[in-house]
Amino acid sequence: MESSKLLIEGGRRLTGEIQIHGAKNSVLPILAATLLCGRTKTREAGISRTKTREAGISTIHRCAGLSDAFAAMRILRSLGCDVTHEGSTVTVNSANAEGDIVSDGLMHEMRSSIVFLGAILGRVGRCRLSFPGGCELGPRPIDLHLEALRRLGVKITEDHGILDCTAGARPLSADITLSLPSVGATENIMLYSALGAGETVIRNAAREPEISDLAGYLIKCGAEISGQGTSTLVINGVPELHGCEYSVMPDRIEAATYMGAAAITNGELMLRGVRPSDMYSCMSVFSEMGCGVYPYDDKIFISARKPISAVRTVRTMPYPGFPTDCQPIVMAVLAKSRGTSVIVENIFENRFMAAPELRRMGANIKAEGKVAVVEGVKKLYGAPVRAYDLRAGAALVVAALGAEGQTQVSNIHYIDRGYESIETALSSVGANVKRV
Ligand code: UD1
Repeated sequence: MESSKLLIEGGRRLTGEIQIHGAKNSVLPILAATLLCGRTKTREAGISRTKTREAGISTIHRCAGLSDAFAAMRILRSLGCDVTHEGSTVTVNSANAEGDIVSDGLMHEMRSSIVFLGAILGRVGRCRLSFPGGCELGPRPIDLHLEALRRLGVKITEDHGILDCTAGARPLSADITLSLPSVGATENIMLYSALGAGETVIRNAAREPEISDLAGYLIKCGAEISGQGTSTLVINGVPELHGCEYSVMPDRIEAATYMGAAAITNGELMLRGVRPSDMYSCMSVFSEMGCGVYPYDDKIFISARKPISAVRTVRTMPYPGFPTDCQPIVMAVLAKSRGTSVIVENIFENRFMAAPELRRMGANIKAEGKVAVVEGVKKLYGAPVRAYDLRAGAALVVAALGAEGQTQVSNIHYIDRGYESIETALSSVGANVKRV
């Protein structure tokens, strides 16, 4: 798909304040979860309608204007929800949602559309959608999602890339141990188990703050969930969930991206509306680079007056480890640093997509398998580069801000999946960025 480009004139020190939006990785599962509201479900009686239309209404605040969020809204509409969007508030009424099919086209619009599986099954007891297959980050297996749903009594057939799922008579209790703390699998199990009878225990569950945010929304809708933030989650199914008003948590990856922009331009930025306690692993990497990082309340101030230093090894890990989503951003900053850094990517197979593009800008990066060696250079130079995935695209924008001359970043529809108007935020703190 051909999309607009960003033209970035590098070399300007960024100073000022940026307000951080609601988290992409949180709003997508929460939008999927709105489907569960406004329907009564009992084990004996199967599925029956709730009496009031209001029980289906959820009002979600801090919903950033991201193309992935718009794709999630299109999926909700295709399933029968009324969805309205005004500013950063999205209102979903699921009272009449009867759909059980997500079209192939809609599945492909959003990388994380698989999170609709647990929600649709939870609501209507059936779901048909296409297998997500590979993506920019390499193969995206969903074996853990399917294995867990089977443990919860779901009958699943896979035929020519189509998944056909039907909820069966559910066991009263299921005790599921994930072999990996998969974020997506944890979300799908939570979504499927929230409505109904029985206790579901998820061991080795993902501990990402976005999981706690999904739990927070579901609990406000009447769900019984405990253990969020720990590796054992317990979900006691309830017969009914009602919509609520909820504010999505701050986007820690967006905040880390702007920390990268401050670092590479020797700038000073105040990031507002963040939750520093979610960001210790990121803040410690920026501190190790020599930046002053000062968190307080819902703000982080980052000051990068000194040249950036190399760091020891950055390893991506499940939360609370260093997030895979921040890895390309940190790679871009380290590309222009003093010394040699090593980056180990433990989550995704194909997540050094930014490296060849950064090399076009003069970076010295060798990447093989899960390890990248970044030998810092004194200067990066503007060049025509291409975003190959969301965070790799954001990393190129960060590198361009610290480069001499003009960079043209193409394929920016990837960046629009996860950043609401990145050029507006960066221009407001002194960057020269234009969308053409
Ligand atoms: C991942 C990130 C999450 C990030 C999101 C968006 C981790 C642990 N997860 O979540 O923080 O917000 O991308 O970029 O960092 N896997 C299987 N089988 C499965 C499911 C996953 O083998 O059924 C493997 C994956 O290949 C991967 C790992 O488990 O190596 C973690 O995947 P998972 O957490 O499910 O990915 P996302 O939900 O996309």
